[in-house]
Order: sequence, then C-alpha cells, then structure tokens
Amino acid sequence: MKRIAVLTSGGDSPGMNAAIRAIVRTGISAGAEVIGVRHGYQGLVEGDFTLMDASSVSGIINQGGTILHSARSQAFRTPEGFQQAVDHLRAAGIEGLVVIGGNGSQTGNHALYTRASFPTVGVASTIDNDLYGTDYTIGFDTAVNTALESIDRLRDTATSHDRIFVIEVMGRSRGFLALHVGIAGGAEVVLLPEIPWTIEQVKRTLDAGYRRGKKSFLMVVAEGAARGEEFARQVEEATGYETRATVLGHVQRGGSPTAADRVLASQLGSAAVKLLLDGEHGVLVGEQHHCITTTPLADAWSHDKPLDPEMLDLVRVLGA
Ligand code: F6P
Repeated sequence: MKRIAVLTSGGDSPGMNAAIRAIVRTGISAGAEVIGVRHGYQGLVEGDFTLMDASSVSGIINQGGTILHSARSQAFRTPEGFQQAVDHLRAAGIEGLVVIGGNGSQTGNHALYTRASFPTVGVASTIDNDLYGTDYTIGFDTAVNTALESIDRLRDTATSHDRIFVIEVMGRSRGFLALHVGIAGGAEVVLLPEIPWTIEQVKRTLDAGYRRGKKSFLMVVAEGAARGEEFARQVEEATGYETRATVLGHVQRGGSPTAADRVLASQLGSAAVKLLLDGEHGVLVGEQHHCITTTPLADAWSHDKPLDPEMLDLVRVLGA
C-alpha cells in the first residue's frame, strides 16, 4: 500500500489530533503517502482531500478538536453518496483508510469494508466510551476530568447552601461517562440510560441521606436518562429540598487531551496504520487489559459494550 487516508467522524473527542499525528507519521515512516479527508464521511462524498506531511501535524498533540474537522454526514448514508465516496477514494489512488470515531462512524467504516470491499481500519474515539472492543476510547479520560472539574466546583456551592445539585453529562444512550464522573465526583445518585429509575427511588435515597445528617447532595445524570432541568424540578417537587441543575453540554467535548488520551491515541493511531499496511483489515483497534487489540468491525458496531456491574455497586455503596 503506497497511499492511505485518514478521517475523523462523529462527535469530536480530545485526542483525535494526537491520533491523526500518529497515523501521518507512522504512515510516512513506513514509506506511504497519507491523505487527510476533511469533514469526515462528508469529505469522502465530496472528495475533500489534502496531502499531509510530517510537519502538517506539528504542534497538535496537545490540541482538542480535530484539525481534519468532523461531521455527521447524511449524504454518505444514501446509496448515491456512498458510491461517490468510494469513487473519490479510488480516483485519488487511495488504497486504505483509517476511520477515527465512535459507534456511528465505525458503522460507516464497516459498510465501506463489506459493501465496497475497501480496506479499512477503525480507531476507537468518542467521549462516550461506548465502543465494544476497547476498554477505553480516545477522549473519554479527558471528558471525565473536564466534567469532574465542574463537579468539584459545584460541590463547594452545594455544601455552602445545603442544596441538591443535578449535573447533566453527555451520553444519549450509554452511561459510561456518567458512571465514571459520578464515582470520581462522589455523587450520591447517578442515573444512567441503561438503568430504569423512579422519582420515588431517588426520594428514598435522598431522605435516607438527610436522616443520616447529610445536608447537600450531588446527582449525576446522563442526558439519555434524564434532562437536568426537568429532573431538578421533579426532585424539588417530590422532596421539597432546594435543587439546582447544571447542564455541562459540549464543554465535555473540548479541551487539551490528558496524558492518558494522548498516549492511547498515539498507540491506536500507529497500530492502525501498521495493520492496514500488513493487510489486516475490517477491524477496530482498541485497548483491552492494557494491550492493543483488534476486534472485527462487524462486532464493534453491533455489540453493546456491557457496563461493569461492580462499578454500579460502587455508586450505591460509596454514595450512601
Ligand atoms: O457521541 C458523542 C456525543 O457527545 C454524545 O455524548 C452526545 O449525546 C452527542 O455526541 C451530541 O451530539 P451533537 O454534538 O451532534 O449534538
């Protein structure tokens, strides 16, 4: 393989730039040309390509976001758009593609691999950490720490005013971020999209805490489990306790990646290029039990990554 390409797709995550840097520099050192595709799959549909040299990725390892830009392309989902994407790849002489992104992005990647027989490799990157085939995705550690910084500040004011605070974090369908943030922030209640909850249960937990002498509470909710403002109103109505809500939103997606995310991105990006050049295609590169591993893309996007039941238990026991 003499020419490969890289794109970033879906919600951006801190560390994507570090992965791009690793892909470009590993590719060049192996004697390949590396093409950057701008705006994710939309850039494939439109043929928005740029040749990247080693210096084009200088000074980006510490930057959040993605220098290649990202998008959620509707056009790529249509048969015509898909064909245009394949035609552009072939016309540009690109022989292999690395897709940096989360679940949706790896679904598109799998389609290129199976429907167009195009050699691809996926790199697991999303703040949601919801990809099967990797313990951690690029950006998750940074997002947890970003949210945690806000939660620590909210604890100060919650304690001063003897209030309940609801903190809504990202995660439409999965609660990995909320679970980690909740444990790290010492939250009394954590609501996840995967676990049904009732306001009566929440009230019981709060009442028990008050009886033991607690005066303030932090509740972390994934956006897919409850909307922060609405949930805070419900809690105040059900309990009579003063409750405030903070929605962290997209701040969780930005910022300079942590050391852990930079290292993970460098390892996964570099491994992806080696796999592509060695002829191992149609796989997601991830990290499991501290080793770099591969998982068939077919499994990565179609299997649900399980939540760790022991982590769920920790919330209950430690938040008491
Ligand atoms: O998948 C990453 C993510 O940040 C989710 O946690 C969130 O629900 C979603 O993207 C938000 O997407 P958008 O930026 O398109 O509103």
